Amino acid sequence: MHFNTFDTLTYINRRQKLKEKVNTGIILLLGNHESPMNYRDNTYRFRQDSTFLYYFGLDVAGLAAIIDTESGEEIIFGTELTIDDIVWTGPLPSVSDMAKSIGIDQTKDYTQLGTILSKARSSGRQIHFLPPYRHDNMIRLGDWFDMPVGVVNDKASLILIKTIISQRSVKEKGEIEEIHKAVHISANMHLAAMQYSLPGMKEYEVAARVHQEALKGGGDLSFATILTVNGETLHNHYHGNTIQEGQMILCDAGAETVKHYAGDMTCTFPVGKSFTQRQKEVYEIVLHTHESAVKMLRPGITYKEVYLKAAENIFSGLKALGLTKGDPAEAVHAGAHAMFFQCGLGHMMGLDVHDMEDLGEQYVGYTDTLTKSTQFGMKSLRLGRELEPGFVLTVEPGIYFIPTLIDKWRAEGKYKEYINYDKLETYKDFSGIRIEEDFVITETGSQLLGRSLPKTVAEIEALRSSVLK
Ligand code: GLY
Repeated sequence: MHFNTFDTLTYINRRQKLKEKVNTGIILLLGNHESPMNYRDNTYRFRQDSTFLYYFGLDVAGLAAIIDTESGEEIIFGTELTIDDIVWTGPLPSVSDMAKSIGIDQTKDYTQLGTILSKARSSGRQIHFLPPYRHDNMIRLGDWFDMPVGVVNDKASLILIKTIISQRSVKEKGEIEEIHKAVHISANMHLAAMQYSLPGMKEYEVAARVHQEALKGGGDLSFATILTVNGETLHNHYHGNTIQEGQMILCDAGAETVKHYAGDMTCTFPVGKSFTQRQKEVYEIVLHTHESAVKMLRPGITYKEVYLKAAENIFSGLKALGLTKGDPAEAVHAGAHAMFFQCGLGHMMGLDVHDMEDLGEQYVGYTDTLTKSTQFGMKSLRLGRELEPGFVLTVEPGIYFIPTLIDKWRAEGKYKEYINYDKLETYKDFSGIRIEEDFVITETGSQLLGRSLPKTVAEIEALRSSVLK
C-alpha cells in the first residue's frame, strides 16, 4: 500500500514548493485514521487523506506530519505496531522506514504531537492547518488548539488552503498518467454495465458488475456508484429496482487507482436494444451539448462560460421539442434552464473525484473576483474559474425531468414565459440523461483522459443490440 508511491524526489519537491510558498510558521497535515462502521474493529475501507497522500504518499492510517517552513524541519508522527497489532494486521514497515521512503528522517510517536504543537504555540509560532472533514480529526484539533470543535474549521489557514490548491490544481506528468489509468478502468466499468445489463435484472446486479471492474483495476471505487433507472435523481444510490425494456440506465461511476487518482464517467443507455424516439431526441441534445462544451475547453476560458453555453444548448434543444420557449440566452440568464439542468457542468478531478472539495469549493473552483452563484442550478457549478494547462476536469451535461420540481415550479408559475408546462407534464416519467468524460487542459485545448466509449445513439444501440441478439 504505502509503496505504491511516486519516487522520493516527487514528494521532496512538492514539500519544498509548499514550504517556500507558505514561508512562515509550521504546517500541520493530518492523515486519516481508521473509521468504525458499527463497532471499533469493523471499519470502513481505509481512505487516506488526499493532501496527505500528495505530500507524503504514505497510505497508512494514523499518521500526521509537521513541516517547519522556517527551519525546514519535517517530522512524521505515527505509532509503531505492537505484536498484538501484527497478529491481526500483519507486519508493516516501521514509521521511520516509511518516513525515509519519502525523504523524511525524523519521526516521533503520535502521542507527542499535541505537546509539540502546544510548545510551538506558546513560543508564538503560527501553526497552519487545513479544515478537517473527519470528525475525529476535528476533535483532535479542538483538543490541541484548545478550541470548541465547532470553530475548528473557521481557524484553518487560508494561505495553506490556497497554496495547496494552486499546487494540486496543476497536475504533474506522473499524475496525468495515473488519472489516464483511472479513467481507463472507469471506462471498463461502463462498458461492463452496457454489456451486462439485461431486462429483468436488478440494478444491484449491474452495480456489482461495475464494482468488479474497479477492483480488477487494483484500486476501488472513487465514489459510490450511481446506477439507476431513475436518473433524474442526481445522486441516486438506490439499486433495488428491476430494469425493464423501455427504460434507460444512467450509470455514473468511476475507479480510483492504487495511488488513489480518480476517474469519473457517466453513460446512459437503453435497457432494451434501442432508445425510444423520445429518449433519442433528448439524448441527442445532451450529446450535442457535451460535444460543444468539449470543443470550448482551452486555457483562458472560464468554465462558467462553458457552463452557460451548455445551459443555452440544452434550452435551445428542448425548445425544438416544444418544452421551452423564448430566447435561450435570456432564459439562461434568468435561471429557467435549471428546470432541466439542475447541477453544474463538471468539477476538478485528481486525488479526489471532486478534487480538493474538502478545502472549500469557493477556493478550488472560483477566485477572489469570481464568486460562486447563489442561483438555483448555477449554485451547483463547482468549477467556474479560468482554465489553465494541467487542470483536470469532468464535462457532464445532463437533462433531468424531476416530477417534484415540475409540480413545484408549475404551482408557483415560475418561469412560465420560458417553460411549456403542459408539454412538460407528459415528460414526468422520463427520468434523466447524463454523458460524462474527463479531460486535461493542454497548452492549446484539451485532451480526453482514458478513452471514449460508445456514445452516439447508433454506437450505443449497436452495442445493446449485440448484447440482446
Ligand atoms: N460523479 C459523481 C459526482 O460528480 O458527483
